[in-house]
Amino acid sequence: MIIMRLFSVIEIYFQTCSTLSSFIFAGMRIDILTVLPELLESPLQHSIMKRAQEKGLLQIHIHQLRKWAVNEYGQVDDYQYGGGAGMVMMCEPLAKAIEELSGERTYDEIIFLTPDGKMLNQKIANTLSLKENLLLICGHYKGIDERIREHFVTKEISIGDYVLSGGELAAAVLVDTIGRLIPGVLNDETSALFDSFQDNLLAPPVYTRPEDFRGWKVPDILMSGDHNKIEDWRHEQSVKRSSERRPDLKQE
Ligand code: ADE
Repeated sequence: MIIMRLFSVIEIYFQTCSTLSSFIFAGMRIDILTVLPELLESPLQHSIMKRAQEKGLLQIHIHQLRKWAVNEYGQVDDYQYGGGAGMVMMCEPLAKAIEELSGERTYDEIIFLTPDGKMLNQKIANTLSLKENLLLICGHYKGIDERIREHFVTKEISIGDYVLSGGELAAAVLVDTIGRLIPGVLNDETSALFDSFQDNLLAPPVYTRPEDFRGWKVPDILMSGDHNKIEDWRHEQSVKRSSERRPDLKQE
C-alpha cells in the first residue's frame, strides 16, 4: 500500500511537471539523414506520431543524404581501405550534411544508429524526450567512416542485438519511442508513466469486454470497483511478470 501511495505522489508530481512543461516546451525537432527516405516516411505518419506533429509538438525532417553526394551520380559510399567486401559511407557527404544542418540550429545530440551502439531502453528514451533538437544518422552497407563517428557523433544507439539492412527502421523505432514521451503528446500522460519498463517493471495484464469470453473470465478483482485493491493487484502482477519474464530488469 505504501508503495502504491508513493506511486500516486510520483504520478501527481509528473502530471504537474508535464502540464507545466507543455506550456514552456516549444516542441522537439528531429532531423534524419538517410539514403532511403521512403523507408522512414510511412512509419512516422500515423497514429501518435501523426498527432504529435499535428499538435506542433514534434517536427520530423527527413533529408536525402545524396543531396551532399561527392559527384553527379549521387555517390555517398566507397570501397573500404584494407580490402574486404562491402561499401562504407564516405566522410564528405556526411560531414557536409551535418555541418550544413548544424549551421541552422544547435543539436543536443547527433545520434548514429548502429548495432554496436548503446542498447536503447526506456531510460534513454525518457532522457532524449526532453531534448529540443536531435540529428539522427542512418548507416548503410558496412557502416560509416569511423572519422565521422569520432568527430561528429555524440551518441550511438542500437535497437537490439541483430543486424538490420540499414539504420532507417532503427531510427523509426527511436523516434516513435521518444515522440510518445514528449510532454503533451499523449492525451493521458499517466499512460506513458505506467508503460512497461518505466520503473524497470513490465506492465500488468489488461482486459476489456466481454467479461466472459468462451468461459475465459476476467479476474474478479478487476470487476470489484475497489480502486485501491485493483492498483495493488496490478502492481503485484507487474512484479510477478517482471521477475518471471525479465529477471534482468531488477539489476538495472
Ligand atoms: N543498423 C543496423 N542494425 C541496427 C541495430 N540493431 N540497431 C541500430 N541500428 C542498426
